[in-house]
Amino acid sequence: MSSSSSNAKLNAWVKEIAALTEPDSVYWCDGSKNEYDDMVKILVDGGLATPLAKRPHSYLFRSDPSDVARVESRTYIASKSQDDAGPTNNWIDPVKLKEEMKALYKGCMKGRTMYVIPFSMGPVGSPIAKIGVELSDSPYVVINMHIMTRVGSKVLEVLGDGEFVPCLHSIGKPLAAGEKDNGKWPCAPIEKKYIAHFPEERTIWSYGSGYGGNALLGKKCLALRIASTQARDEGWLAEHMLILKLTRESDKKSKYIAAAFPSACGKTNLAMLIPTIPGWHVEVIGDDIAWMRPGKDGKLYAINPEAGFFGVAPGTAEDTNPNAMKSITKNTIFTNVALTEDGDVWWEGIGHDAPGKLIDWKGNPWVQDKGNKAQEPAAHANARFTAPASQCPVIAPEWEKLEGVPIDAILFGGRRPSTIPLVHEAKNWNHGVFMGSIVGSEITAAAVDLKVGDIRRDPFAMLPFCGYHMGDYFKHWIEMGKKIPEASQPKFFFVNWFRKKDGKFAWPGYGENSRVLKWVFEQCEGTGKSVDTPIGLMPDAASFDKPDSVSADVLKDILSVDVEGWKKEIKDIRDNHYPKFGNKMPQELKDELAAIEKRLG
Ligand code: OXD
Ligand code: MN
Repeated sequence: MSSSSSNAKLNAWVKEIAALTEPDSVYWCDGSKNEYDDMVKILVDGGLATPLAKRPHSYLFRSDPSDVARVESRTYIASKSQDDAGPTNNWIDPVKLKEEMKALYKGCMKGRTMYVIPFSMGPVGSPIAKIGVELSDSPYVVINMHIMTRVGSKVLEVLGDGEFVPCLHSIGKPLAAGEKDNGKWPCAPIEKKYIAHFPEERTIWSYGSGYGGNALLGKKCLALRIASTQARDEGWLAEHMLILKLTRESDKKSKYIAAAFPSACGKTNLAMLIPTIPGWHVEVIGDDIAWMRPGKDGKLYAINPEAGFFGVAPGTAEDTNPNAMKSITKNTIFTNVALTEDGDVWWEGIGHDAPGKLIDWKGNPWVQDKGNKAQEPAAHANARFTAPASQCPVIAPEWEKLEGVPIDAILFGGRRPSTIPLVHEAKNWNHGVFMGSIVGSEITAAAVDLKVGDIRRDPFAMLPFCGYHMGDYFKHWIEMGKKIPEASQPKFFFVNWFRKKDGKFAWPGYGENSRVLKWVFEQCEGTGKSVDTPIGLMPDAASFDKPDSVSADVLKDILSVDVEGWKKEIKDIRDNHYPKFGNKMPQELKDELAAIEKRLG
């Protein structure tokens, strides 16, 4: 592709960064299949990628043990004022940070190529889409961006001389003359890693990591942290939500549902769910991020800004998510899973024992020893697959519709072994915002330094992803409600698949969650049977379409209001959660809290 664009600002920025980072060459990505294959060849020749005999056009990568996940402790919101970043973000002075990072960037691409990756978050040309350009010295990033976003010449055509989000990325491992990576994942040590956001300038600078959300800057950095600040300023919503389409086959009517859950609550599984109730059908539009704007008809329209799935491999199996398994049979990048002798992948929770000897994610021989509970896993717990969304058997035909899909319902959820019922519905918009503001998961024994049983709040599942003060974010949600006529507003629901009884899960989850989705659908069309309770509307347990595996007594239990539990919940919100946001905590949400308390009596 040509060595510049028609965008003067972009050309000048590419020149400036090349002068700073000193790559051997600069390459402008065109997004073609040939380009993908050329990058793969570089990676295979360098010993970083292993072709998988069992999966066409698929490759395995093993990253450095210091570079296996998003590093929240090294993720910064460098707004001019600390108060704009708020209490839930790491703030750092942007002037000081730029000085520090420029010193790191100086000469950091020596011996490498700097790739110019123009990408669109959202279907190219959609009025809701945004364009970014990532400069990166990692061909692994290029191929992942090819799958996760729309890359190339067509993006530059749409960009013209318009605005884009500059995203600067370096793995932070220059090569000396003649030096090669020789199969060793290049990155910088943890204390030199930075994932920095400059919200006023709408700019992202990342240094030192080649992995996932730290390096594929379209995803968490642009589509959530920077986009959330743009959304606040421009009157829309950038959210950590899946989007699914639920269809009742008898009359072919569909509802579109967006849902926010903290990490590790089964978002990808819900987005691709296979209903156990006959006559219902789920299709996926997105599994991680939703951008939503009021449309001309007053409804809230959502797009999935991504083009692929960056899913957690461990636990993904034929019986937990067959649609995900079918999405990754070809054209897929695997990172930090185990390799089988016949050139396939394996991970814990894949649904079958390891087939013989493996090479684990660290590159060492590994033989399954089921008697040894202390055996280190063969795949890293955060091992991932990167797969094109178009390969999912249940991708909705309208998933790339430029104007998006009209959202009927918004779900919130978390892992809550007690108190929170299977499902309840908000009485109105502000009550829905209240539900989003209290999202959280109960701390389990697995988390260190935290008290078991406490709730770790993750409002709107946006804790690590909101680019500004969370109190202002709540306020923005309240203001958005005023822009959407009541009759067109989505309904809000809080779901909890994780209630426990006698130490065991009371609800089977997975495909059975379709029963809750059916009730949500019926509530949206006004045919649902519900009872009004102090915490909101709940299904009438007697008429709820329950699975045989759940007894009537257990169902009644998980569909009732635990008054004592809710009183404790309210106290925790009032004493520990809401005070974190100081005087930015909107009065409307404190009022919702007080109203629920009053209704509980
Ligand atoms: C993700 C996350 O990787 O939410 O999507 O952590
Ligand atoms: Mn996510």
